[in-house]
Amino acid sequence: MRLIYAAFFVVIAAFDVSLAQPLQDPIVSGDARTLPVVARHGMVVSQEERASRIGVDVLKAGGNAVDAAVATGFALAVTLPRAGNVGGGGFMLVHLAKQNRTVAIDYREAAPSAARRDMFLDQNGHFVPSLSQSSGLAVGVPGTVAGFALALEKYGSGKFSLADLLAPAIALARDGFEVEDDLAVSLRAVERRLMRHATTRAIFRHADGTALESGHRLVQRDLAATLQRIAQQGAGGFYEGETADRLVAAVRAAGGIMTLDDMKRYRAIEREAVRGTYRGYDVVSMPPPSSGGVHVIQILNMLERFPLAELGHNSAAGIHLMAEAMKRAYADREIYLGDPDFVRVPVAGLISKDYAAGLAAQISPDRATPAEDISAGRPPGFESDQTTHYSVVDRDGNAVSNTTTLNFSYGLGMVADGTGILLNNELDDFASTPGAPNAYGLRGGAANAPEAGKRPLSSMSPAMVFRNGELELVTGSPGGSRIITIVLQILVNVLDHRLNVAEASEAVRVHHQLHPDELRVERGLSIDTIRILEAMGHKVRPQRATGSTQTIQRRDGYLYGAADTRQRGTAAIGY
Ligand code: GLY
Repeated sequence: MRLIYAAFFVVIAAFDVSLAQPLQDPIVSGDARTLPVVARHGMVVSQEERASRIGVDVLKAGGNAVDAAVATGFALAVTLPRAGNVGGGGFMLVHLAKQNRTVAIDYREAAPSAARRDMFLDQNGHFVPSLSQSSGLAVGVPGTVAGFALALEKYGSGKFSLADLLAPAIALARDGFEVEDDLAVSLRAVERRLMRHATTRAIFRHADGTALESGHRLVQRDLAATLQRIAQQGAGGFYEGETADRLVAAVRAAGGIMTLDDMKRYRAIEREAVRGTYRGYDVVSMPPPSSGGVHVIQILNMLERFPLAELGHNSAAGIHLMAEAMKRAYADREIYLGDPDFVRVPVAGLISKDYAAGLAAQISPDRATPAEDISAGRPPGFESDQTTHYSVVDRDGNAVSNTTTLNFSYGLGMVADGTGILLNNELDDFASTPGAPNAYGLRGGAANAPEAGKRPLSSMSPAMVFRNGELELVTGSPGGSRIITIVLQILVNVLDHRLNVAEASEAVRVHHQLHPDELRVERGLSIDTIRILEAMGHKVRPQRATGSTQTIQRRDGYLYGAADTRQRGTAAIGY
């Protein structure tokens, strides 16, 4: 791959690209300081190298993007246990090149049928975070297996069975694999939360109680058996029988309310993808119960009214505008967004250009609006860093953009005995009571209140960008409440600032979610810029490296991949 790039680079370097002129083709510019991986036929970009490689092997064997995505997804459940999962859920965008159609698969976890609006409140009506974050009540009915099975059945190439695509994951779980830094560090980071569960210790610690360090072997026999049951019986091998029995028993023993019937009734849902335009590009992303697609498009609509490229990448003026647009979108998120099967979400209004024009007109070019002065607008027609994303493109231009999660790192931290499955604590994404922030500081109201069978609002924003009907970009990221703004900045960096995808990924990120009223900035923004932003009224706060974007750009017959280097172990692999 590097060789292909090198040859390309030599040709392009022969042209004199003036610093003063906008780059015509930034992807292969000699000015780039950070380079994407280049491939010709197909590519998988994920947070774990083995999983990327497994997906690419499927592509090489004639599989399409969906086949590869399913194989990669199951592999991540083994090799990236903090976020890859069969016990969680997520969202998958599938682009079908021949039909020029993009479908959205919602395999978000669902609240059990016994869920009630006050389930996370004490007798005095006060929110009790431990209930929604670390008890069995936090566990939503997992959606991943149903989502992958649906994707494969409807959109796979037909050349691979579920069992074929599970085989590499089963082997990795059964035979084990060498622990690398990323896994060892992530286990240490949440040690106390994980290791209080004997079932988790039994897998993620040695028998003598010592920690799994880099170079040690992680074997997950129970998980291998769980995956094997799916391979043999399909999704029914997960939602019914031994796996479901054990999972439900574990959830109930931890204080939860999930039943075998909840498991049996779970369905992944196909939804209409949400669509917008930005400076001549078509942007496609996930509809509710994700808030991601709606707000990425809403923010882009506001930003389209300003000359971002002219203002310069990560200039104070550009960051100010992005922050102000973010704040207005998060104000709407608090009020309007929820599971569309339960509440009417004014999607069309929120993503309309006219509505954005009104919001953009409220933005002062040089003064930050205090959070208390921003409330949700009236859209027309109102009638955790702990998720993972991967992107796949195949040789025919089919693509998958998939974001999946257990919510916190390792979810609830508890393995359901005898299954190897880490349980999610996704129901903390509900708004337990108006105004009470969840673990990500996000607030919400009735639209996102817990209800039986409802799916909690998410920020996961798998996205694709098209130009004249041709797929150009596939991206997404983990990052809890920040996912929306992380994905937004990949789009702005590529579409406005013409950065290649590697540069777009590495660039310093900022985030504002209205509450708290703070502009979060990663390390690397110049102190001069920070001072200008402060003078405009922003409360600038440092934030740790945020997100792990996995991006593929497709142009001129090449694929350009960038696996975010903020976390170790990520890999863009193509062929
Ligand atoms: N659990 C984080 C999200 O779905 O947004």
